[in-house]
Parts: sequence; structure tokens; C-alpha cells
Amino acid sequence: MRRPGSILILTGAGISAESGVDTFRDKGGIWSQVKLEDVATPEGFSRDPAMVHAFYNARRAGLAAIEPNAAHHALAKLERVHDGAVTLVTQNIDDLHERAGSRNIVHMHGELTKAFCATCGAHLLADGDLSADLVCSACGHAGGMRPDVVWFGEIPYHMDDIYKRLLAADLFVSIGTSGAVYPAAGFVAEARAAGIRTLELNLEPSDGTPLFDEARHGKASVLVPAFATEILAGI
Ligand code: OAD
Repeated sequence: MRRPGSILILTGAGISAESGVDTFRDKGGIWSQVKLEDVATPEGFSRDPAMVHAFYNARRAGLAAIEPNAAHHALAKLERVHDGAVTLVTQNIDDLHERAGSRNIVHMHGELTKAFCATCGAHLLADGDLSADLVCSACGHAGGMRPDVVWFGEIPYHMDDIYKRLLAADLFVSIGTSGAVYPAAGFVAEARAAGIRTLELNLEPSDGTPLFDEARHGKASVLVPAFATEILAGI
């Protein structure tokens, strides 16, 4: 692939699937195990904070048992070696990109390894379980701590910064996402409208496939290293 200067890469649950993380909408995915309304909405959290904390506590604890896979490592190498900017915008709340060595990451749906205090607005590191009665280490108030994740009905993080970086890119790549959730699902149309080349790497055709200039289908652990090699070789 002709060497682009600046690359913006969007990742979704599919890039972590081969590390053992469940995706959301595939067969047996998270939304077939639990109700989205219960664990991924502010209303669900108000109804039953203990249950929502338990769901995210289990996912946070699960991070210790998983490792980045070849796709995460390939993106970290691309960022390190490519002579233009490589921005990673992820919908994932796991920390596998960081652990693979990527540094230029925007977590638009938040991070499992952080807590958010609804009382004072602090984003704090969270390496253990959160609970409804936890005291915020920034403001000292109890009862306002929640997982630092974006729920349905809330605005994803860093959107102004993401659109600025997207529109400055020469290439937009979408990896392992079904294209079912906005605003991320709309990035391909925004990129195309701005004349930016677009590429999809996904296990199977996604909702957005027809909008991409090019789509390659297969496992992220195979497609992503091949893509990174192509870019670095200027093929
Ligand atoms: P989805 O579960 O909707 O989509 C995962 C995509 O990954 C599917 O298109 C799969 O085909 C693909 N996939 C699965 N295994 C793969 C593999 N080994 N290699 C490559 N692709 C693979 O997950 P997301 O698109 O990330 O938001 O979901 C977007 C958002 O919806 C999530 O961030 C979450 C969810 O509800 C919130 O909770 C706010």
C-alpha cells in the first residue's frame, strides 16, 4: 500500500477477540450474556449499582488473564517505526493496546483501569474492585464512584480531538468493529467525505463495509500484521 503520512486507526472488540475477550454482537457475545440496558446505561447503574460494579469488576480482574495478540503488537510497531503520525482510537475498554506498547491512544469509550468520580469529575486509576460506597481519593466524597466507561446515552470521550485527527489523516483504518455503534460507526463516512482513503480489516463484512474504499476479511492476528508490514515497506 502506498505509504500514507498520517494514519488514524479505529479498533473495536474484534481486535481483542483472539486474546480471549468476548466481542459484543458475535454469537455468544456479551450482549447475549447480559442486558445492555442493565450494565451499559446510566439508568441501569442507578437501578443496581452493585450489579454494575460486579460486572465491570469481573472484567477488570479478567485483564490479568489476557495478553495482547499479534494484531496489538503490529499496531504498536507501526506507531514506533512509521515516519508519520499513527493515532489509535479505540472503542475498547481493555488495556491491551497499551500493554503491546502503543502510546498514541484515545480511549473513546473509557478504560476499565480507571474510575470516574461523578461528584468531582476526577478520573482515577483503579486497579482493584470498585463499589457503591467507595470514597473518592480526590474529593473525599463517598458514593459517586463509577467505572470510567462511557455508557449508552452518554457522549464518548475526546470527540473534538478525534475528529481533528481523523480529518488530518491520509488513511483511515477500521479494525474489528461491527460498525453498529455511533459515533465511531460514522467515521468512515466522515473520512470519505474529506477525501481520505479508507480500509476495513474485519473478520467478516460489517454494516459499514460498502462505505470503505477497500475491505479485507479475516482474523485480525493475520490481517493487521500484514497491513503494518505493507505500510512500513511502502508497498
Ligand atoms: P462488536 O461485537 O459489535 O463487533 C465486533 C466485530 O469484530 C464483528 O464485526 C466481528 O466480525 C469482528 N471480529 C470478531 N473476531 C474477530 C477477529 N478475530 N479478527 C477480526 N475481527 C473480528 O464490537 P464493537 O464494534 O467493538 O460500547 O462494538 C462497539 C461498541 O458496542 C463497544 O465499544 C461497546 C458495545 O456496546 C459500549 O459499551 C458503549
